[in-house]
Amino acid sequence: MSNAEAQGTAPVLILRDLQVDFFTAKGRAHAVRGLNIDVAKGEILGIVGESGSGKSVTALSIMDLLPQRTGGIVSGSIVFDGSDLAPVYSSKYRVSGRKGREKLRLRRFAARRAERKLAGHKGRISMIFQDPMSSLDPLYQVDSQLLESILYNNEKFMIERVIEKNSIMERIGDFTIMLQQKNTEDIMEWVRSNYGEGGFHREIFFISNMSISESEKKIKIRRALEYTRNLSPQERKRLTERLPKANGRYFRPNNRKRLPIQGIGNPVIREGMLFSLELLEFVGMPNPENVLTSYPHELSGGMKQRVMVALAVANDPDILIADEPTTALDVTTQYQVLYLIKSINRKLKTTVIFITHDLGVMAAMADRIAVMYAGRVVEIGPANHFFNDPLHPYTSGLLKSVPQYDERVRKLYNIPGQVPDLRRLPTGCAFNPRCEHAMNICRTEEPPDESVGERRVQCWLYSEGVQKNER
Ligand SMILES: Nc1ncnc2c1ncn2[C@@H]1O[C@H](COP(=O)(O)OP(=O)(O)OP(=O)(O)O)[C@@H](O)[C@H]1O
Ligand code: SF4
Ligand SMILES: [Mg+2]
Repeated sequence: MSNAEAQGTAPVLILRDLQVDFFTAKGRAHAVRGLNIDVAKGEILGIVGESGSGKSVTALSIMDLLPQRTGGIVSGSIVFDGSDLAPVYSSKYRVSGRKGREKLRLRRFAARRAERKLAGHKGRISMIFQDPMSSLDPLYQVDSQLLESILYNNEKFMIERVIEKNSIMERIGDFTIMLQQKNTEDIMEWVRSNYGEGGFHREIFFISNMSISESEKKIKIRRALEYTRNLSPQERKRLTERLPKANGRYFRPNNRKRLPIQGIGNPVIREGMLFSLELLEFVGMPNPENVLTSYPHELSGGMKQRVMVALAVANDPDILIADEPTTALDVTTQYQVLYLIKSINRKLKTTVIFITHDLGVMAAMADRIAVMYAGRVVEIGPANHFFNDPLHPYTSGLLKSVPQYDERVRKLYNIPGQVPDLRRLPTGCAFNPRCEHAMNICRTEEPPDESVGERRVQCWLYSEGVQKNER
């Protein structure tokens, strides 16, 4: 039974028999081999495993960021919100039987078709990458990068905010009285009941979740209204007409003049700038106004990682994938970024897939843990079981490899051997050359998925009847 079933919630993401291969000069590497994971809504699922076990490739497959020429999804499904994304992703690079320009033209055509099919999912799964320096664009200021993400993925949300705020400004008297008398939650409720759960309602929701006092929240809500430019009747009509077909295409960051927010004429871009500022405040950025107009090289590692987190949560994603987000940071900044991700999960109810090989970080973060080895999930279950009672010999090995600060040992433990070459995997269980419990059957047949209570494990030790016969 999966965790999602156990909790009675439908899984938000289902990976079934996912297989990802890379075509290298030395042969075909099976980076992900028949992966099965159900991710429950609102949980933090941790993925651990040694270097090269396929953690990042799994994340990149979900995000459709695999290098298209050298690798891809070979089979299996990635079901998100009821639709299987895997065939749409693969359709982009499966253009066969043509050469040269014709092939290129067909690829572009296929990519556009796939983009249309995926339009409804834009911004709903986002990712924080391991290295913020190589993930942020060095040529653009932070504001351009945030704006691009906000307007390309969710232009509709920005237009809604502008229209709603303009309606509220017509009732500014009511609103001012409320700001004096009611708390943030009540104000949010008033906006929701009068204008729906769209633009400004979500903005107040963001502000109300900041770690600041109630009076500071009210100042920010007031600023959020005051920064919005009054629309003329014609502008309002134009924006209302644009709303149903908003697709983020009109925004070109390189065409945008860099102006201070007060000088921005386009009300949607102006609103996007304000939202960018709020996002930086939400992620606890010191001096957010300055950061907004800085280039990535002008920021420290921790600040860049916070910009990455702001980018990732800009569109209020359903799923946030964090691939070793704190590896390059010092422990204090690491703690702040981890705390931020955890509060996004708890406060915004965002589902998080958290990848790391730091078991200490995993203990602090995950509700459930999946252990990957050579492209497979060999054990998955609640985090407390993982640390207290590991099932798979590989999981036990990983835990034994963590040095204990209160124990003096002559030699630190490490799992013998190396992660296998994914182009030439051993027959049977991929872990058998390194496993101290290996039996005959382990060298010939791959272990099936077995359920042990709430957990699933791939090891012959947990298959009924195998141990007695095979030892
Ligand atoms: N672009 C690529 N071309 C060829 N092989 C690749 C490529 N990307 C990944 N691989 C293969 O996939 C395997 C899994 O890589 P992946 O990046 O998922 O490892 P990981 O578990 O994230 O490791 P780490 O903890 O070091 O980040 C690698 O061993 C590598 O052989
Ligand atoms: S299946 Fe066999 S080799 Fe693989 S982990 Fe289990 S006991 Fe070890
Ligand atoms: Mg990785």
